Amino acid sequence: MSTAPNVYIVFYSLYGHIYTLAKQIQLGLEAQGVNVKLYQVPETLSEEVLQKMGAPPKPDVPIITADELKEADAILWGIPTRFGSVPAQIKAFLDSTGGLWASGALAGKLTSAFVSSGSNHGGQESTVFNTLTYFAHHGLLYAPLGFADPHLFDVEEVVGGSAWSAGTIASGDGSRQVSDKEKQVATTQAKNFAKLVLAMHKGKAILEKANKVDEPQQTPVVQKQKEAAPAKEEQQPKPATPPKETKSDKTDKGVSKCFCM
Ligand SMILES: Cc1cc2nc3c(=O)[nH]c(=O)nc-3n(C[C@H](O)[C@H](O)[C@H](O)COP(=O)(O)O)c2cc1C
Repeated sequence: MSTAPNVYIVFYSLYGHIYTLAKQIQLGLEAQGVNVKLYQVPETLSEEVLQKMGAPPKPDVPIITADELKEADAILWGIPTRFGSVPAQIKAFLDSTGGLWASGALAGKLTSAFVSSGSNHGGQESTVFNTLTYFAHHGLLYAPLGFADPHLFDVEEVVGGSAWSAGTIASGDGSRQVSDKEKQVATTQAKNFAKLVLAMHKGKAILEKANKVDEPQQTPVVQKQKEAAPAKEEQQPKPATPPKETKSDKTDKGVSKCFCM
């Protein structure tokens, strides 16, 4: 196991607000000593539609494939609100992770999100809430921000974010930029998330080491059981016909046929 864990920031950003937050979160994570890689999800809109929506060129950040998620120790998702939920681009990418689901490749990895919306009542909380089904099905462990940063209590000015995650308010025409307070909230989320990731990474390394030490003591018992096994088989006459398929066999077959890619 490498000394520093890898955190992937996977985002979609049409007008750049989520990208700004992603870079802020990257700085916060790196300050805690974790490795960070930034990725965008693939665009699903045509150039023509993007032009009509007034989207600027995409940032120079690699586009992720589902398989690459395996290499991450933890994943942070950058998500701009669409109708109070995740945009089609994020959903399309998550829908391409069926193979990872089938192999349990993401199970047990820490995860969280950060968001942006046009208005301050536009659905930042529901956007993160709507990621939970994906996280649960993958066995990803969602770490909320909580009220970890004092700016979340600020009522003097508009501040994006909530107990669910850091966030920014872009305004209806996208003209508002990520504020210093929102950057501070994002840094707090990054710091707390990194600490969790580091604790988990170190804990896993300790467990792996302890299990290696335990191995020689377990081997003789396993060997004894193996040696005893043929004698048992000899005592039991083999059935003339193969055993009937049980209900659980059928279920297993059904599951393995299920949407595995
Ligand atoms: C189709 C569409 C739906 C949107 N739905 C919402 C919404 O429900 N609530 C809201 O506050 N903003 C909404 N917005 C505004 C976006 O959330 C905002 O443009 C985005 O957060 C800016 O992030 P970005 O600069 O990273 O793209 C919507 C924008 C589009 C294009």
